[in-house]
Amino acid sequence: MSTASVDLTQNDNTKSADCDNDFDFSKLPDKPRNLNMERQRSFDERSLVEASPRYSPWAENGQRHIDNDSVFSPGRRSSFTTPRSLYGFEPHPMFAEAWDSLRKTMVYFRGRPVGTIAALDNSDEKLNYDQVFVRDFVPSALAFLMNGEPEIVKNFLLKTLRLQSWEKKIDRFQLGEGVMPASFKVLHDPVRNTETLMADFGESAIGRVAPVDSGFWWIILLRAYTKSTGDSSLAETPDCQKGMRLILALCLSEGFDTFPTLLCADGCSMIDRRMGVYGYPIEIQALFFMALRCALVLLKQDAQGKELIDRITKRLHALSYHMRSYFWLDLKQLNDIYRYKTEEYSHTAVNKFNVIPDSLPEWVFDFMPTFGGYFLGNVGPSNMDFRWFCLGNCIAILSSLATPEQSMAIMDLIESRWEELVGDMPVKVCYPAIESHDWRIITGCDPKNTRWSYHNGGSWPVLLWLLTAACIKVGRPQIARRAIEVAELRLAKDGWPEYYDGKSGRYVGKQARKHQTWSVAGYLVAKMMLEDPSHLGMISLEEDRQMKPILKRSSSWTF
Ligand code: GLC
Repeated sequence: MSTASVDLTQNDNTKSADCDNDFDFSKLPDKPRNLNMERQRSFDERSLVEASPRYSPWAENGQRHIDNDSVFSPGRRSSFTTPRSLYGFEPHPMFAEAWDSLRKTMVYFRGRPVGTIAALDNSDEKLNYDQVFVRDFVPSALAFLMNGEPEIVKNFLLKTLRLQSWEKKIDRFQLGEGVMPASFKVLHDPVRNTETLMADFGESAIGRVAPVDSGFWWIILLRAYTKSTGDSSLAETPDCQKGMRLILALCLSEGFDTFPTLLCADGCSMIDRRMGVYGYPIEIQALFFMALRCALVLLKQDAQGKELIDRITKRLHALSYHMRSYFWLDLKQLNDIYRYKTEEYSHTAVNKFNVIPDSLPEWVFDFMPTFGGYFLGNVGPSNMDFRWFCLGNCIAILSSLATPEQSMAIMDLIESRWEELVGDMPVKVCYPAIESHDWRIITGCDPKNTRWSYHNGGSWPVLLWLLTAACIKVGRPQIARRAIEVAELRLAKDGWPEYYDGKSGRYVGKQARKHQTWSVAGYLVAKMMLEDPSHLGMISLEEDRQMKPILKRSSSWTF
């Protein structure tokens, strides 16, 4: 079936609040190559299936599902200041402390809550940690939504939307209309008793990079809000529709691209410093994919929406094909690359990007488990970044960019490489660290990003919520439970640091802020989601039901 004829009729207004399944992967124009994806059921999974009546991770048809009859459905719990356990048992004392901390970070504009400040650490120079960051607010927003407090999320979405319409300039150069801010701040004038907003679109940021991820997170959050509240009226407003269109116009425009992935500068996302992720970083590609899928359910089928929906659908097909084919690495694929021929010309080339086998780093041969795999950090001409990145791989699972088998394989790898990726504090932002000469060349001698610190192989507690969501999605919440237990040993005692240093994350980060809000919120979201897995729906997108893959466990998988 041609991509143009994909049925988009599901995208009507009435279904926009809960329709996730309007992207049919079975309609991919071509089949990517076979992957050898053998795996074994982990102990966790077995014990979970046997022990818990609440989970039935894999149905006969291979689709994971959560038994909706036996799980608590979300709903408003706004009367709670500090939510209690749904199942009667007392939550960990850290849980109450975390809620108190999160509430203290709330930022008000003209009397209304509009976001949460990045860190409440008064001991150090503030830099921009006194601002509301768009990406940092996402776990806070999810925590509030899960607790039945959508107001702050709605206000945040509307405020940032207003900021988007500001004129954005760096020196004499004007930025694209759709760019969303990295962060904003409320300025109080005590003399005039007024409040104004100040935003940063990259013109103040260290390195002067625009946050490519902000717009994607904004769309993803708009869907989470819609899904959680059932209120599609916000997303349907002309302002929100226009905001989405402007964001998408930035990344769907035609140019010189030969790939459906998005070409990015270094530092344009969570890793907001030079770390050698320029090109086609997995974090942005996965967020791009997820934002496109969310936009597909949120955009109205009016004259302007229709044309965009068609472009989104085509891009999603191309993007999923490209990512699943070229970014995926498992033992078989690694072996193939190891034996690649180079300098192949024409359509018959196997080594399409002309990756030179000598560029394979030694660590990857040991890191790759027999069962498992992951999406590479970056793929471009003669360039494969073999580093494992947490955020991109978790978002690939949540957005269903990863096939069910690939999702399982990512989890298998996390289990096999637990010491390296979780160790003493979940989760490594990327693995491994860049050292010595590579560090000099790739980071530009960045003293903040020395090996096993900060963005260079540091451990970030905020990533716990993404890991937890991904674990629940693949039906293996036991893995998340283990990670949360590891975090609970130290996170509160250490004062909720922004990140940890060292190979296994044993040291509080050299320049880490304490009372970092997304470390607090990430923990809360992880806990609440584990307790009530139906929350997952607001941040996860299922594969199209029509796809119904015939999954053969422990055998090779064909797309
Ligand atoms: C750091 C992080 C960035 C985050 C910001 C505020 O710059 O790299 O991802 O948004 O701090 O917490």
